[in-house]
Amino acid sequence: MTATINVDGKSGEYPVHAGSIGPEVIDIRKLYGNTGRFTYDPGFTSTAACESKITYIDGDQGVLLHRGYPIEQLAEKSSFLEVAYLLLNGDLPNQAEHDEFKYLITRHTMVHEQLATFYRGFRRDAHPMAIMCGVVGALSAFYHDSTDIHDPKQRVIACHRLIAKMPTIAAMAYKYSVGQPFLYPDNSLSYTGNFLRMTFGVPAEPYVINPVVEDALDKIFILHADHEQNASTSTVRLAGSSGANPFACIAAGIACLWGPAHGGANEAALDMLREIGRPERIPEYVARAKNKDDPFRLMGFGHRVYKNYDPRAKVLGAAATKVLDTLGISDPVLDTARELERVALSDDYFIEKKLYPNVDFYSGIILSAIGFPTSMFTALFALARTTGWIAQWTEMMEDNDQRIGRPRQLYTGHGPRDYVPLDQRG
Ligand code: CMC
Repeated sequence: MTATINVDGKSGEYPVHAGSIGPEVIDIRKLYGNTGRFTYDPGFTSTAACESKITYIDGDQGVLLHRGYPIEQLAEKSSFLEVAYLLLNGDLPNQAEHDEFKYLITRHTMVHEQLATFYRGFRRDAHPMAIMCGVVGALSAFYHDSTDIHDPKQRVIACHRLIAKMPTIAAMAYKYSVGQPFLYPDNSLSYTGNFLRMTFGVPAEPYVINPVVEDALDKIFILHADHEQNASTSTVRLAGSSGANPFACIAAGIACLWGPAHGGANEAALDMLREIGRPERIPEYVARAKNKDDPFRLMGFGHRVYKNYDPRAKVLGAAATKVLDTLGISDPVLDTARELERVALSDDYFIEKKLYPNVDFYSGIILSAIGFPTSMFTALFALARTTGWIAQWTEMMEDNDQRIGRPRQLYTGHGPRDYVPLDQRG
């Protein structure tokens, strides 16, 4: 099938490629050569920048599939490590594959001892995401033997290292901020249990893992593991397209994730809910969100792709109630969140613009109940998303069509003009 594009009365045929599901794409790679015109799509609302087999989103229906499996099933039945294997390898592991993967990840959980010194260069009040950007970027200085991107074995080792070390790195960022000693990983624990212990344990006493908390956090990790070609994933791919090493690419992804329109929204959403404080104040904030002259937005609401309920928010909304009930925590912020959701979803502004709660709306309530400060929320997102980033990076490295990413522009600056010496400028 082809699509006809008419430019200046001359028509050209362009191939149309069909995916397995989802919209077809018009292949316009030859458009500039044929017509001397670029397409213009800031924000990439109509542009597919790559082919991928990892994650599929149907934003109108609120569907999210990883390698074909619905996110609801993975969140309910799977574990984060199993999902990591799935994203990286394409299929769920059998028992032997699962055990081997777990063993490999577990054997890479420690970080180079010199990294502890590296942390001490940061101010105590540094934001954990600032530390994560720096430390993950620095990994390429510590693991030279897995930075040759042309060696498939080294690529796999880099993937394992990144997935395994992110919990250690995030926990160290937290420990540093609260002035407690770093804890070495305990490889007898689960991926998520180990992270909880490194974060909340102290060397002076044993740390007892609450299985409800471990399960809830593992779910949060699953729900954040990958999300197709979002801003940070596209950043990782773009950085990788130049041949940068995987540690540098993931550091770039972390930097992009930090923004409040992306991963930083979980921190901003809980801050907002706490600021609203009680359900009676909701109309005031909803009015502000609707006011064009006020930059305020409902954080944790709206999504570029979902024009329906974000399926991850559904799972997290239910999990929030369960976690708070089990931990015996009565946090009025959950009531505020539920009421805000009810009010917004019955308001014409949000209905017309199809703005629904997204993954960041309820996750902060759970993370806060577990004991994480808001500043750690985006770091936890980065920990989990590293799996998706590295799976997408690997897919790109194995794609023969891969070229350096190089968007063009619509230039609206000055035309050519001559340099005027300083003493002659008015
Ligand atoms: N509150 C109030 N109005 C909103 C909101 C919101 N949260 N989100 C979008 N709108 C309005 C926006 O003002 C615009 O109105 P108009 O057409 O009259 O100009 C319309 O809805 C479309 O918004 P947009 O900014 O053009 O949409 P986008 O696809 O570029 O942005 C978004 C998507 C997620 C950045 C945006 O919805 C937003 O800023 N949400 C709040 C931040 C947030 O929760 N981010 C997390 C996203 S999910 C997790 C992740 O990606 O990491």
